[in-house]
Amino acid sequence: MDKITAMPPVLEVRDYSLDYRTHAGPFSALKHINLEIARGEVLGLVGESGSGKTSLVWSIMRYLPGNAWEKSGAIRLSGEELGDKSEREMRAIRGRRMSMVFQDPSTSLNPTLSLGRQLSEVLVHRPGRRPKPGSIRSGSRRRS
Ligand SMILES: Nc1ncnc2c1ncn2[C@@H]1O[C@H](COP(=O)(O)OP(=O)(O)OP(=O)(O)O)[C@@H](O)[C@H]1O
Ligand SMILES: [Mg+2]
Repeated sequence: MDKITAMPPVLEVRDYSLDYRTHAGPFSALKHINLEIARGEVLGLVGESGSGKTSLVWSIMRYLPGNAWEKSGAIRLSGEELGDKSEREMRAIRGRRMSMVFQDPSTSLNPTLSLGRQLSEVLVHRPGRRPKPGSIRSGSRRRS
C-alpha cells in the first residue's frame, strides 16, 4: 500500500446504528450507515424529512440526546474513534477539527453580523490560537 491509499478518510462512518428510546419502545433512527469522506471531498446527504440526516450529524458531532442508544458501529475522524473520546476531548475537537452549521442558518447565524465576524469568534474563543487581524474576510457586510 502506498502512502496516499494508507491515509485514513477525514471522516468515516462504519456500520453505525442508533436507536432512540421512546415510550412506545426503541425507535431505529439509523440502521447500518456507512460513508466516508476523503480529504478535499464534499458529501451531500439527501433524504426525506425524518430519514435521520440530523441524527447522523449529531452522532458525528457527539451531541447525542439522553435517549439515544448507539447500537453498533464506529465514527472516525482521520482514523480516530470519536466514540472513545471524553466530552472534554470532544470540546477540543469541535470548532477546531469539525463544526456544524445548524439547520436554518437564518436562525443559527446572526444576520446583523458579518460571516467573517461570526467565524472568527470560534477562533477567538478557542484557546491557543487567535486569527491575525484582517486574516478572515467575508463579502457579507453588516447592513445599516
Ligand atoms: N431524541 C429523539 N427521540 C425520539 N425520536 C427522535 C429523536 N430525535 C429524532 N427522532 C426521530 O428520529 C427520526 C429521524 O429524525 P431526524 O431529525 O434525524 O431526521 P431528518 O432527516 O433530519 O429530518 P428533517 O429533514 O425533517 O430535518 C424521526 O422519526 C424523528 O422523529
Ligand atoms: Mg434534520
